[in-house]
Amino acid sequence: MAPPPRDSWGSRLGVILAVAGSAVGLGNFIRFPGQAAQFGGGAFMIAYAISFLIIGLPIGWAEWAMGRYAGQRGYHSAAGVFHCLVPWRGSKYIGVIGAIIPLVIFMYYVAIEAWTLGYTVRFVRAIFDPTLRFATVTDSQAYFGRFVGSAADGSALRPDLDSLLPWLAVVFVINLVLIYRGISAGIQKVCEIGMPVLIVLSLLVLARVLTLGTPDPAFPDRNVSTGLGYMWNPGKTLVVGEDGRTIAEVVDADAVRQRERADAMAAATPGARVERRTMLSQLADPDLWLAAAGQIFFSLSVGFGVILVYASYVGPRDDIVLSGLTASATNEFCEVALGGLITLPAAVAFLGVAGVAGQGTFGLGFNVLPMVFSAMPAGSLFGAMFFFVLFIAAITSSLSMLQPGIALLEEALGIGRKGSVGLLGTLTALGTGFVAWFSRDLKALDTLDFWVGTFLIFVLAMIQIVLFGWAFGIERGWEELHRGGAIRLPRFFRPIFRYVCPGFLVTIFVLWFLENVVGLGRAEPSSYVADLFEKGEPVAWLSIGVVLVVSVGLAVTIASSKRYADDEA
Ligand code: ALA
Repeated sequence: MAPPPRDSWGSRLGVILAVAGSAVGLGNFIRFPGQAAQFGGGAFMIAYAISFLIIGLPIGWAEWAMGRYAGQRGYHSAAGVFHCLVPWRGSKYIGVIGAIIPLVIFMYYVAIEAWTLGYTVRFVRAIFDPTLRFATVTDSQAYFGRFVGSAADGSALRPDLDSLLPWLAVVFVINLVLIYRGISAGIQKVCEIGMPVLIVLSLLVLARVLTLGTPDPAFPDRNVSTGLGYMWNPGKTLVVGEDGRTIAEVVDADAVRQRERADAMAAATPGARVERRTMLSQLADPDLWLAAAGQIFFSLSVGFGVILVYASYVGPRDDIVLSGLTASATNEFCEVALGGLITLPAAVAFLGVAGVAGQGTFGLGFNVLPMVFSAMPAGSLFGAMFFFVLFIAAITSSLSMLQPGIALLEEALGIGRKGSVGLLGTLTALGTGFVAWFSRDLKALDTLDFWVGTFLIFVLAMIQIVLFGWAFGIERGWEELHRGGAIRLPRFFRPIFRYVCPGFLVTIFVLWFLENVVGLGRAEPSSYVADLFEKGEPVAWLSIGVVLVVSVGLAVTIASSKRYADDEA
């Protein structure tokens, strides 16, 4: 007989808010607008919407169903779920990817969470002390660089309020204390309070941003509508060198001026030419699809191993189709309607399109927005509110990244909450320490975010959908998905689960792999691949080493566990 669950959700709304809390995070307010801007706006949004419908929703539902099925049989870790679903000795080792991903992401995510808390306090201080406001982007960039230590390794670990160290310590302890309180008294409570606060505060910030108009009449095209156009209009204008490498992306609110500036830049560079990428040619780029699909996964916390674990604590008669849909819809509202409407439009209103182009994933949020908030009326207050929203969003997500590891340690080693939180706390402290120390150019953070936060999530998502549609079986999966539920999915979702979703994932993954890793059809490999194989960047390799150490550690834990061995005997 299955052992009784050690912990469970206190209510149906509680689990929906917890899954939504896990989903709504930095991905919504920082990563999403950053990716949309980087991949050329409208075309990215098309790939994003398609990815939501044919991979985000179905894989999310598959995780809900498989997690609940295994949870009813006493398994609460991703390895346990795989072990329960597939009677093969190796399955639990594949399932362990579902613990590696959230653990490693936690290691860098909590550092960004610490930035958000540090920035909240900085903006609160600026309400009372105007000298703490950021007059120019150069100021806010310099501050960010010092705060995170991007100039030299170890330089963020200073005991002062304008550096990462104190905030990282606070945030780390808060996470461990809350996760120690458990599923209903810890995670659920935080999400029940945090989610409504987050939505109300972000609506206030949104109202402020959307009423900014054209803040500086000397620059008539620096306004909120131009920002929205930049985010949603398709098309890209590039200046490309003789060797096929991109020299610059030219961005201007006015299409004719954009063309003229690109022509002038190309004329000034021997051998260069202008390449205009239409929406269709953008959609032919596998990188764009990988980024869009990756954003859907990261944002919904799908393919993380988190929903699988959360769903394992759900009751047998809950409507998981509806819960999954509600949590995903909440996430999309927060991402597209809040994150998307706040971040880019606010930045473009003050800096113009050219001022925000070319920012990396987190650049927009931390390099550009601090200056933007400093410049708007009542900006310190709204800046404090915005970064506090980020903090709430981040903490409800980071907590969800700890639970899969806790569940695995409890299940495999038979230890209680105290032991598992202690072990996991030590492991993640080491990993986060690694990320915080190797802060130069944020190399460790960026490398882990790509290889685990995009690549490995992709791999786990593919495995999960094949598991659901084929190994567990669509009949059993379909039945589990609808058990106790009031709404039924239309039957056309069955071929989506079985063929469309895995086919789509495999296609973009193979194309991306051929282009970026094998190097077919392009002049330059992705910078993450180049860091490892062309440049041999030591920190990039060390980051991969961290992932390997975590993987081996968890695999050995599973191999030595009596729990799974007893079942197999
Ligand atoms: N889903 C979380 C986010 O979007 C991880 O940040």
